[in-house]
Amino acid sequence: MSLFDEVIERRGTACLKYDFAVERGKPKDVLPFWVADMDFRTPPAVIEALVERSRHGIFGYTGIKEDYRKTVVAWLKNHHGYAPAQETLTVTPGVVFAICTAIRAFTEPGEAVLIMPPVYYPFANAVKDNLRRLVECPLVEKDGRYQMDLADMEQKIKKEQVKLLLLCSPHNPVGRVWRREELTQLAGLCLRHDVIVVADEIHADFLRPGHRHQVFAALSPEIAQNTVTCTSPSKTFNLAGLQVSNIFIENEKLRQKFRRTLRRTGYDEPNTLGLTAAKAAYDHGNEWLQELLAYLEENLRRTRVFLAKEMPLVRLIEPEGTYLLWLDFSRLGLTDEALNKLIVEQGRLWLDAGHIFGTGGENFQRINIACPWSVLEEGLKRLAQCLPNGK
Ligand SMILES: Cc1ncc(COP(=O)(O)O)c(C=O)c1O
Repeated sequence: MSLFDEVIERRGTACLKYDFAVERGKPKDVLPFWVADMDFRTPPAVIEALVERSRHGIFGYTGIKEDYRKTVVAWLKNHHGYAPAQETLTVTPGVVFAICTAIRAFTEPGEAVLIMPPVYYPFANAVKDNLRRLVECPLVEKDGRYQMDLADMEQKIKKEQVKLLLLCSPHNPVGRVWRREELTQLAGLCLRHDVIVVADEIHADFLRPGHRHQVFAALSPEIAQNTVTCTSPSKTFNLAGLQVSNIFIENEKLRQKFRRTLRRTGYDEPNTLGLTAAKAAYDHGNEWLQELLAYLEENLRRTRVFLAKEMPLVRLIEPEGTYLLWLDFSRLGLTDEALNKLIVEQGRLWLDAGHIFGTGGENFQRINIACPWSVLEEGLKRLAQCLPNGK
């Protein structure tokens, strides 16, 4: 039995995934596979570090010291071949927070920000909530593989005078791990038209065998000068509630602008326990991560087998990374509304309906497989049972 087979009760911990079904309009007894956190305990070394820090008992204001910066840079260097200077790091309470900050720092109200849907839905909200203009350049799917539409993008960048682009790399929800060549082309386009890139690389540590994450800023020094790189241990080690992400901005001017905007929020000092956890995770969590990746790979294999046998009409978009699966239900011939109703009301499941990820998401569902296989299997069984014509 694997460490990750243990079913840990999360109900009663005020966790978004399990404890907010009714508040969010779902039946009380739904089995959740939606929000992107995991049902696994963080590595033992992280728990120990948190307990030890907690025993000290004083949780006053805390800052970033050199050892923290060193640890974060060492992780990026060892895992992804990117070694930015330590002083280019700014800690924020989250990646979404950093994206909103970047939007406010580098664009004016009414200016255009480009996204590539279907994509993590807070991207669109961050643009709209900050009163910027949303420009969509939908990904194009061919034979189960999504690609960027660079010709469409160039036209829109020119026509709409796009100032900022939000890149999701690896891409949530379609699971693409963008290749170096693809990113190089995108970067060329952005440099030609003076578009700053915010690269959200939060899923970078979840790579399937044979795939490698290309840090966007590591493509070239010129591209690094045009990029905000968002990283975080929160997905990798299941620390989202501790609110720490690490943002690298190599361009001095952009960095100072970002930091000034951050200060204006009044929230520019980090969470004490978040820093403790992040450092311990990066210092001691690698072995655990490798075991986790193997477990997720097996969950994926079993899901693939289950789908082929029990729901052959449901099409799995084969992921290259992340623990989020993108499933296409269009061959069932249901309306998107009917599909969502069936899944929630008959299946008693809480997945993320594809349409929330924007254009191209209709008739898809996103399912989070970062849970014990027994839980995932129960979810898949419920799904198979609720579909009238899954076969
Ligand atoms: C692509 C992407 N970016 C950001 C986040 C959230 O990051 P944070 O909790 O640091 O704001 C998520 C969580 O699902 C995500 O998938």
